[in-house]
Amino acid sequence: MATILGIEIKKKFVSFRWKLLSTYLILIIILFFILISVTTDYLLDWHINERKTELTEDSHQIAEDISYYLSVYDSSIYKTYLQSIVDKYGENLNSRIIILNKEKRVVADSNDEFNFTTLNLEEIDKSLLGEISSNNYYFNDIGNVMYIGYPVVFEDEINGSVFISSSINSLYENVNSLIYKIKVLLIVVSLLIMVGLYLLTYLFLKPINKFYPAIENIKKGDLGQKVDIRTSDEFSLLGDAFNSMTVRLNEVDEQREAFVANVSHELKTPLASIKLLTENLLLQDNIEKKVYREFLKDINDEIDRLNNIVTELLSLVDLDKNKLKLDLQITYLNYILEKIIEQLNPLAKEKNMKLIFEERDRIQIKIDKNKIKQAVINIVHNAIKYSDEGSVVKIALYTDKNYATIKISDNGYGIPKESLPYIFDRFYRVDKARSRKTGGTGLGLSISKQIINMHHGTINVKSRVGRGTTFYVKIPIEV
Ligand SMILES: Nc1ncnc2c1ncn2[C@@H]1O[C@H](COP(=O)(O)OP(=O)(O)O)[C@@H](O)[C@H]1O
Ligand SMILES: [Mg+2]
Repeated sequence: MATILGIEIKKKFVSFRWKLLSTYLILIIILFFILISVTTDYLLDWHINERKTELTEDSHQIAEDISYYLSVYDSSIYKTYLQSIVDKYGENLNSRIIILNKEKRVVADSNDEFNFTTLNLEEIDKSLLGEISSNNYYFNDIGNVMYIGYPVVFEDEINGSVFISSSINSLYENVNSLIYKIKVLLIVVSLLIMVGLYLLTYLFLKPINKFYPAIENIKKGDLGQKVDIRTSDEFSLLGDAFNSMTVRLNEVDEQREAFVANVSHELKTPLASIKLLTENLLLQDNIEKKVYREFLKDINDEIDRLNNIVTELLSLVDLDKNKLKLDLQITYLNYILEKIIEQLNPLAKEKNMKLIFEERDRIQIKIDKNKIKQAVINIVHNAIKYSDEGSVVKIALYTDKNYATIKISDNGYGIPKESLPYIFDRFYRVDKARSRKTGGTGLGLSISKQIINMHHGTINVKSRVGRGTTFYVKIPIEV
């Protein structure tokens, strides 16, 4: 198992740099072979054609020079002259030149070897039929050779042939040395590119290396890591995304810590009370039944409180976990509000309060009935809790643009301006003592808000101390 900057690499690790370089190398090798073979073929063809044109032109010249002398019945009488011609051209062209009469008999040979013998060669046969022909051959002893047969014509009659045999080894040598130079050049250029790429990838990949230590620190628990990347490319986008991710991670972590601290604190308070009450009871002998009952009632209240907190916490955890899970059904909101009022009426009666339902519209809407009910109950319950005896709580329902609006107003104690931004926070209570007396946990509004948010709605509040409070719950009507 390899490690890079302390990060364990389980899979077989092949660096990006190596991948890039090897891909490049393979491409270069393929290109190299294609280029070399194409260039070699092309250069050879070109040189050979040049040579052929040259020799053909010379053959033409020789044929012109000798055409008259071959037309006479016995051309051997001009042997000396013809021999001087082949000698001269043979030397100039560095080739072997043979003149044949129409019976394919050699009349003059620059090598002075085949005199008066008959030569049977394809090029000669063709030239005697009036065709200019040329072929290349390879012989083990002398290498590459070009043969040319050229007809000798006098007064429209073919009287013989000029045959040239010329070594083209030098052409191959020229081309090979040129190709060799090209190969060297290509290899040098490729190597330079490889080195350049190697250095460039280092520069390109440099930003990535900044992530490793940051990620390592996050793994160790230090979440607020930042990377500083100023490349104006995808890496800087990645860096920005990374940074905002760590900011969010940090936030979540802080919230989690605060939440755990709050929960522990909230649970500890009733537990401490219970402990105190029980110890008190245990320490006393012969307690009156009445006092016993009083203590037990207090203990019971604290247990109820604990129960409330745990139930609401579980409800919050459930909402957090199933953030996107809503059991949506089409229903009349009016019907749900009626149910809520029915359920909370006994509580209001206890405080001699009235719940008034102001139904301005009938609204059909697609919602999670139980959740919306829970959210609104919390708010109406607060309105009852935080109002004086004998007051009135109004619940109005109407449509406002594309929103179903539930307005819950009381003329209770009100909320101080400085507390308004926090009332939806978990465990926040304006007056801890009062809230405690009424059995509040400080979780109700945060649960309501979360539920309304899940329905893409909003929840707002207006309040004046001593005058009362109004909550506006708006849920989009999509049906
Ligand atoms: N209608 C209201 N009138 C006055 N204060 C309110 C009202 N509703 C909420 N509050 C304040 O906001 C706090 C948070 O409310 P909530 O989250 O429901 O917690 P609690 O469990 O205390 O009711 C309450 O403790 C209370 O101080
Ligand atoms: Mg509440």
